[in-house]
Amino acid sequence: MSLLEKFERYPLTFGVTPIEHLPRLTEALGGKVEIYAKREDCNSGLAMGGNKLRKLEYIVPDAIASGADTLVSIGGVQSNHTRMVAATAAKIGMKCRLVQESWVPHDDAVYDRVGNILMTRLMGADSRIVDDGFDIGIRDSWEKAMQDVRDNGGKPYGIPAGASVHKFGALGYVGFAEEVRAQEAELGFKFDYIVVCAVTGSTQGGMIVGFKADGRANRVIGIDASGTIEQTRAQVTDIARKTAALIELGQEITDEDIHINPDYAYPAYGVPSQETNEAIRLAAQTEAMITDPVYEGKSMQGMIDLVHKGFFPEGSKVLYAHLGGAPALNGYSYTYRNG
Ligand SMILES: Cc1ncc(COP(=O)(O)O)c(C=O)c1O
Repeated sequence: MSLLEKFERYPLTFGVTPIEHLPRLTEALGGKVEIYAKREDCNSGLAMGGNKLRKLEYIVPDAIASGADTLVSIGGVQSNHTRMVAATAAKIGMKCRLVQESWVPHDDAVYDRVGNILMTRLMGADSRIVDDGFDIGIRDSWEKAMQDVRDNGGKPYGIPAGASVHKFGALGYVGFAEEVRAQEAELGFKFDYIVVCAVTGSTQGGMIVGFKADGRANRVIGIDASGTIEQTRAQVTDIARKTAALIELGQEITDEDIHINPDYAYPAYGVPSQETNEAIRLAAQTEAMITDPVYEGKSMQGMIDLVHKGFFPEGSKVLYAHLGGAPALNGYSYTYRNG
Protein backbone atom coordinates (compact mmCIF):
# COMPACT_ATOMS: atom_id res chain seq x y z
CA MET A 1 0.00 0.00 0.00
CA SER A 2 1.27 3.47 -0.82
CA LEU A 3 2.40 5.70 2.04
CA LEU A 4 0.63 8.54 0.20
CA GLU A 5 -2.84 7.05 -0.18
CA LYS A 6 -4.55 9.56 2.11
CA PHE A 7 -3.19 12.60 0.25
CA GLU A 8 -4.87 14.19 -2.72
CA ARG A 9 -2.75 14.56 -5.85
CA TYR A 10 -3.42 16.86 -8.81
CA PRO A 11 -1.67 15.39 -11.86
CA LEU A 12 0.82 17.76 -13.49
CA THR A 13 3.27 15.13 -14.77
CA PHE A 14 3.13 12.34 -17.35
CA GLY A 15 3.40 9.76 -14.54
CA VAL A 16 6.26 7.31 -13.90
CA THR A 17 9.58 8.76 -15.10
CA PRO A 18 11.97 6.54 -17.06
CA ILE A 19 15.11 5.00 -15.59
CA GLU A 20 17.86 5.05 -18.19
CA HIS A 21 21.14 3.11 -18.17
CA LEU A 22 24.13 5.33 -19.01
CA PRO A 23 26.67 2.91 -20.54
CA ARG A 24 29.05 5.48 -22.05
CA LEU A 25 29.24 7.53 -18.86
CA THR A 26 29.71 4.29 -16.89
CA GLU A 27 32.60 3.36 -19.21
CA ALA A 28 34.15 6.85 -19.06
CA LEU A 29 34.23 6.55 -15.26
CA GLY A 30 36.11 3.26 -15.36
CA GLY A 31 33.27 0.74 -15.73
CA LYS A 32 33.33 -0.50 -12.13
CA VAL A 33 30.20 1.33 -11.01
CA GLU A 34 27.04 1.13 -13.13
CA ILE A 35 25.41 4.51 -13.61
CA TYR A 36 21.70 4.98 -14.28
CA ALA A 37 19.56 8.12 -14.34
CA LYS A 38 15.96 8.67 -13.36
CA ARG A 39 14.76 11.34 -15.75
CA GLU A 40 12.76 13.74 -13.63
CA ASP A 41 13.80 16.35 -16.18
CA CYS A 42 11.49 14.66 -18.72
CA ASN A 43 8.49 14.32 -16.42
CA SER A 44 5.93 16.66 -17.96
CA GLY A 45 4.70 18.67 -20.90
CA LEU A 46 4.44 21.76 -18.69
CA ALA A 47 7.16 24.21 -19.72
CA MET A 48 9.97 21.64 -19.76
CA GLY A 49 9.15 20.05 -16.39
CA GLY A 50 11.48 19.19 -13.54
CA ASN A 51 11.42 18.21 -9.87
CA LYS A 52 9.07 20.95 -8.65
CA LEU A 53 6.09 19.39 -10.41
CA ARG A 54 6.18 16.25 -8.25
CA LYS A 55 6.06 18.56 -5.22
CA LEU A 56 3.36 20.82 -6.67
CA GLU A 57 1.09 17.86 -7.42
CA TYR A 58 0.46 17.56 -3.68
CA ILE A 59 0.26 21.32 -3.06
CA VAL A 60 -2.24 22.24 -5.80
CA PRO A 61 -5.27 20.51 -4.17
CA ASP A 62 -4.65 22.61 -1.04
CA ALA A 63 -4.28 25.78 -3.13
CA ILE A 64 -7.56 25.10 -4.96
CA ALA A 65 -9.37 24.22 -1.69
CA SER A 66 -8.17 27.50 -0.14
CA GLY A 67 -10.18 29.49 -2.69
CA ALA A 68 -7.05 31.37 -3.79
CA ASP A 69 -6.85 33.00 -7.20
CA THR A 70 -3.10 33.75 -7.27
CA LEU A 71 -0.06 31.55 -6.62
CA VAL A 72 2.76 33.57 -5.02
CA SER A 73 6.31 32.30 -4.95
CA ILE A 74 9.96 33.23 -4.88
CA GLY A 75 13.32 32.19 -6.33
CA GLY A 76 16.36 33.50 -8.15
CA VAL A 77 16.21 35.26 -11.53
CA GLN A 78 16.90 31.94 -13.32
CA SER A 79 14.75 29.91 -10.91
CA ASN A 80 13.38 26.63 -12.23
CA HIS A 81 10.95 26.62 -9.35
CA THR A 82 9.27 29.91 -10.26
CA ARG A 83 9.01 28.68 -13.88
CA MET A 84 7.17 25.63 -12.60
CA VAL A 85 4.84 27.70 -10.38
CA ALA A 86 4.06 29.95 -13.37
CA ALA A 87 3.34 26.82 -15.44
CA THR A 88 1.11 25.34 -12.75
CA ALA A 89 -0.82 28.60 -12.38
CA ALA A 90 -1.40 28.76 -16.14
CA LYS A 91 -2.46 25.11 -16.23
CA ILE A 92 -4.98 25.40 -13.38
CA GLY A 93 -6.23 28.84 -14.42
CA MET A 94 -4.82 30.96 -11.58
CA LYS A 95 -2.77 34.13 -11.64
CA CYS A 96 0.86 34.08 -10.60
CA ARG A 97 2.96 36.65 -8.73
CA LEU A 98 6.69 35.97 -8.44
CA VAL A 99 9.58 37.55 -6.59
CA GLN A 100 12.83 36.86 -8.46
CA GLU A 101 15.81 37.60 -6.25
CA SER A 102 19.34 38.31 -7.42
CA TRP A 103 20.78 35.03 -6.08
CA VAL A 104 23.62 34.72 -8.57
CA PRO A 105 26.34 37.19 -9.53
CA HIS A 106 26.39 37.02 -13.32
CA ASP A 107 27.98 38.76 -16.23
CA ASP A 108 25.97 37.33 -19.08
CA ALA A 109 24.20 40.12 -20.97
CA VAL A 110 20.98 38.13 -21.44
CA TYR A 111 20.83 36.44 -18.02
CA ASP A 112 17.53 38.11 -17.06
CA ARG A 113 15.95 37.67 -20.52
CA VAL A 114 16.35 34.00 -21.46
CA GLY A 115 15.72 30.49 -20.21
CA ASN A 116 13.55 30.18 -17.12
CA ILE A 117 12.54 33.79 -16.79
CA LEU A 118 11.67 34.06 -20.49
CA MET A 119 9.27 31.11 -20.20
CA THR A 120 7.91 32.43 -16.91
CA ARG A 121 7.01 35.74 -18.54
CA LEU A 122 5.52 33.99 -21.59
CA MET A 123 3.18 32.06 -19.31
CA GLY A 124 1.76 35.33 -18.04
CA ALA A 125 3.25 35.46 -14.55
CA ASP A 126 3.78 38.84 -12.91
CA SER A 127 7.49 38.38 -12.29
CA ARG A 128 9.42 41.11 -10.47
CA ILE A 129 13.17 41.16 -10.00
CA VAL A 130 14.48 42.40 -6.63
CA ASP A 131 18.03 42.96 -5.37
CA ASP A 132 18.08 40.55 -2.37
CA GLY A 133 20.81 37.89 -2.42
CA PHE A 134 20.70 34.10 -1.96
CA ASP A 135 18.79 32.63 0.99
CA ILE A 136 16.66 29.47 1.11
CA GLY A 137 14.54 30.67 4.04
CA ILE A 138 11.23 32.55 4.18
CA ARG A 139 11.77 36.10 2.93
CA ASP A 140 10.19 39.49 3.62
CA SER A 141 9.82 40.15 -0.10
CA TRP A 142 7.64 37.02 -0.40
CA GLU A 143 5.42 38.13 2.50
CA LYS A 144 5.20 41.57 0.87
CA ALA A 145 4.15 40.05 -2.46
CA MET A 146 1.37 38.14 -0.66
CA GLN A 147 0.18 41.41 0.91
CA ASP A 148 0.38 43.14 -2.45
CA VAL A 149 -1.99 40.58 -3.96
CA ARG A 150 -4.40 41.04 -1.01
CA ASP A 151 -4.23 44.85 -1.32
CA ASN A 152 -5.24 44.52 -4.96
CA GLY A 153 -8.30 42.44 -4.09
CA GLY A 154 -6.78 39.05 -4.86
CA LYS A 155 -6.53 35.90 -2.74
CA PRO A 156 -2.92 34.67 -2.61
CA TYR A 157 -1.67 31.15 -1.96
CA GLY A 158 1.97 31.18 -0.88
CA ILE A 159 4.48 28.61 -2.06
CA PRO A 160 7.95 29.04 -0.49
CA ALA A 161 11.26 28.79 -2.36
CA GLY A 162 11.64 25.39 -3.99
CA ALA A 163 8.17 24.40 -2.66
CA SER A 164 10.14 23.04 0.26
CA VAL A 165 9.04 24.59 3.56
CA HIS A 166 5.41 23.59 2.95
CA LYS A 167 3.50 20.90 4.83
CA PHE A 168 3.04 18.84 1.64
CA GLY A 169 6.27 19.88 -0.14
CA ALA A 170 8.13 16.58 0.30
CA LEU A 171 5.30 14.12 -0.42
CA GLY A 172 6.12 13.97 -4.11
CA TYR A 173 9.61 12.65 -3.41
CA VAL A 174 8.29 10.06 -0.99
CA GLY A 175 6.37 8.96 -4.08
CA PHE A 176 9.61 8.94 -6.07
CA ALA A 177 10.99 6.24 -3.73
CA GLU A 178 7.86 4.15 -4.10
CA GLU A 179 8.12 4.52 -7.88
CA VAL A 180 11.77 3.41 -7.84
CA ARG A 181 10.86 0.31 -5.79
CA ALA A 182 8.22 -0.67 -8.37
CA GLN A 183 10.71 -0.10 -11.22
CA GLU A 184 13.36 -2.15 -9.39
CA ALA A 185 10.91 -5.05 -9.16
CA GLU A 186 10.62 -4.94 -12.96
CA LEU A 187 14.34 -4.46 -13.55
CA GLY A 188 15.20 -7.34 -11.23
CA PHE A 189 17.81 -5.46 -9.17
CA LYS A 190 18.01 -2.74 -6.54
CA PHE A 191 20.03 0.45 -6.60
CA ASP A 192 22.78 0.69 -3.98
CA TYR A 193 22.89 4.49 -3.98
CA ILE A 194 20.74 7.38 -5.15
CA VAL A 195 22.57 10.65 -5.92
CA VAL A 196 20.55 13.85 -5.66
CA CYS A 197 21.23 17.57 -5.71
CA ALA A 198 20.09 19.43 -2.54
CA VAL A 199 19.38 23.12 -2.00
CA THR A 200 16.00 23.96 -0.47
CA GLY A 201 15.73 20.39 0.78
CA SER A 202 12.36 18.79 0.08
CA THR A 203 13.58 16.66 -2.81
CA GLN A 204 16.18 14.87 -0.70
CA GLY A 205 13.99 15.16 2.43
CA GLY A 206 11.15 13.31 0.70
CA MET A 207 13.50 10.68 -0.73
CA ILE A 208 14.98 10.02 2.72
CA VAL A 209 11.52 9.31 4.10
CA GLY A 210 10.53 7.21 1.10
CA PHE A 211 13.70 5.12 1.19
CA LYS A 212 13.63 4.84 5.01
CA ALA A 213 10.72 2.48 4.44
CA ASP A 214 13.12 -0.12 2.95
CA GLY A 215 16.23 0.70 4.99
CA ARG A 216 17.99 2.84 2.37
CA ALA A 217 17.60 6.36 3.82
CA ASN A 218 21.35 6.87 4.14
CA ARG A 219 21.94 5.53 0.63
CA VAL A 220 20.43 8.77 -0.63
CA ILE A 221 23.57 10.82 -1.24
CA GLY A 222 22.74 14.51 -1.28
CA ILE A 223 25.14 16.81 -3.10
CA ASP A 224 24.82 20.32 -1.74
CA ALA A 225 24.65 23.07 -4.36
CA SER A 226 23.63 25.87 -1.98
CA GLY A 227 27.04 26.64 -0.52
CA THR A 228 25.18 27.20 2.77
CA ILE A 229 25.43 23.60 3.92
CA GLU A 230 24.33 24.04 7.54
CA GLN A 231 21.09 25.70 6.47
CA THR A 232 20.41 23.08 3.80
CA ARG A 233 21.22 20.20 6.18
CA ALA A 234 18.92 21.68 8.86
CA GLN A 235 16.13 22.18 6.31
CA VAL A 236 16.47 18.64 4.86
CA THR A 237 16.41 17.18 8.40
CA ASP A 238 13.42 19.21 9.51
CA ILE A 239 11.46 18.45 6.34
CA ALA A 240 12.25 14.71 6.54
CA ARG A 241 11.14 14.51 10.19
CA LYS A 242 7.92 16.46 9.66
CA THR A 243 7.09 14.46 6.52
CA ALA A 244 7.71 11.13 8.29
CA ALA A 245 5.27 12.23 11.00
CA LEU A 246 2.75 13.51 8.44
CA ILE A 247 2.59 10.22 6.53
CA GLU A 248 2.76 8.20 9.79
CA LEU A 249 5.83 6.33 8.67
CA GLY A 250 6.16 4.75 12.11
CA GLN A 251 9.94 5.29 12.21
CA GLU A 252 12.05 8.20 13.43
CA ILE A 253 14.41 9.92 10.99
CA THR A 254 17.83 9.89 12.70
CA ASP A 255 20.90 12.04 12.04
CA GLU A 256 22.52 8.97 10.43
CA ASP A 257 19.76 8.94 7.82
CA ILE A 258 20.85 12.34 6.50
CA HIS A 259 23.85 12.23 4.15
CA ILE A 260 24.73 15.51 2.40
CA ASN A 261 28.11 16.12 0.85
CA PRO A 262 29.23 19.79 0.98
CA ASP A 263 32.32 19.39 -1.26
CA TYR A 264 30.99 20.46 -4.66
CA ALA A 265 29.06 23.70 -4.07
CA TYR A 266 32.14 25.88 -4.51
CA PRO A 267 32.77 28.63 -5.49
CA ALA A 268 29.15 29.71 -4.78
CA TYR A 269 25.50 28.96 -5.48
CA GLY A 270 24.86 29.38 -9.19
CA VAL A 271 28.53 29.68 -10.08
CA PRO A 272 30.09 26.63 -11.75
CA SER A 273 33.65 25.60 -10.92
CA GLN A 274 35.97 24.27 -13.62
CA GLU A 275 35.14 20.77 -12.35
CA THR A 276 31.40 21.49 -12.64
CA ASN A 277 31.91 22.50 -16.26
CA GLU A 278 33.97 19.37 -16.98
CA ALA A 279 31.17 17.24 -15.50
CA ILE A 280 28.53 19.04 -17.59
CA ARG A 281 30.60 18.45 -20.75
CA LEU A 282 31.24 14.77 -19.92
CA ALA A 283 27.52 13.98 -19.39
CA ALA A 284 26.66 15.90 -22.57
CA GLN A 285 29.37 14.26 -24.69
CA THR A 286 28.86 10.66 -23.51
CA GLU A 287 25.08 10.50 -23.07
CA ALA A 288 23.67 13.73 -24.57
CA MET A 289 22.36 14.30 -21.06
CA ILE A 290 22.18 18.03 -20.43
CA THR A 291 22.88 19.29 -16.91
CA ASP A 292 23.04 22.88 -15.70
CA PRO A 293 25.68 24.92 -13.87
CA VAL A 294 23.49 25.65 -10.82
CA TYR A 295 22.16 22.25 -9.71
CA GLU A 296 22.57 19.10 -11.75
CA GLY A 297 26.06 19.99 -12.98
CA LYS A 298 27.16 20.06 -9.35
CA SER A 299 25.51 16.75 -8.45
CA MET A 300 27.00 15.26 -11.63
CA GLN A 301 30.41 16.61 -10.58
CA GLY A 302 29.90 15.09 -7.12
CA MET A 303 28.89 11.69 -8.48
CA ILE A 304 31.85 11.60 -10.88
CA ASP A 305 34.31 12.55 -8.14
CA LEU A 306 32.84 10.01 -5.70
CA VAL A 307 33.23 7.28 -8.35
CA HIS A 308 36.87 8.32 -8.88
CA LYS A 309 37.50 8.32 -5.11
CA GLY A 310 36.10 4.79 -4.72
CA PHE A 311 33.24 5.93 -2.47
CA PHE A 312 30.89 3.47 -4.22
CA PRO A 313 32.14 -0.13 -3.85
CA GLU A 314 32.96 -1.95 -7.10
CA GLY A 315 29.82 -3.42 -8.69
CA SER A 316 27.51 -0.79 -7.17
CA LYS A 317 24.50 0.41 -9.10
CA VAL A 318 24.06 4.16 -8.71
CA LEU A 319 20.88 6.01 -9.63
CA TYR A 320 21.45 9.66 -10.52
CA ALA A 321 18.25 11.65 -10.01
CA HIS A 322 18.18 14.14 -12.86
CA LEU A 323 15.93 16.87 -11.47
CA GLY A 324 15.77 19.18 -14.51
CA GLY A 325 17.15 22.70 -14.74
CA ALA A 326 18.58 22.75 -18.28
CA PRO A 327 16.76 26.00 -19.24
CA ALA A 328 19.11 27.97 -16.94
CA LEU A 329 21.99 27.11 -19.30
CA ASN A 330 20.75 29.88 -21.58
CA GLY A 331 21.75 32.41 -18.93
CA TYR A 332 25.34 31.14 -19.21
CA SER A 333 25.75 31.54 -22.96
CA TYR A 334 29.09 33.32 -22.55
CA THR A 335 30.54 30.64 -20.26
CA TYR A 336 29.74 27.90 -22.78
CA ARG A 337 30.32 29.89 -25.99
CA ASN A 338 32.96 27.35 -27.06
CA GLY A 339 31.13 24.29 -25.73
C1 LIG B 1 17.12 21.47 -11.37
C2 LIG B 1 17.11 21.46 -9.89
N1 LIG B 1 17.86 20.54 -9.24
C3 LIG B 1 17.89 20.48 -7.89
C4 LIG B 1 17.17 21.35 -7.12
C5 LIG B 1 17.28 21.22 -5.63
O1 LIG B 1 16.11 20.65 -5.07
P1 LIG B 1 15.64 21.12 -3.64
O2 LIG B 1 15.50 22.59 -3.68
O3 LIG B 1 14.36 20.38 -3.39
O4 LIG B 1 16.71 20.73 -2.64
C6 LIG B 1 16.38 22.34 -7.74
C7 LIG B 1 15.62 23.35 -6.97
O5 LIG B 1 16.04 23.98 -6.03
C8 LIG B 1 16.34 22.39 -9.15
O6 LIG B 1 15.61 23.30 -9.81
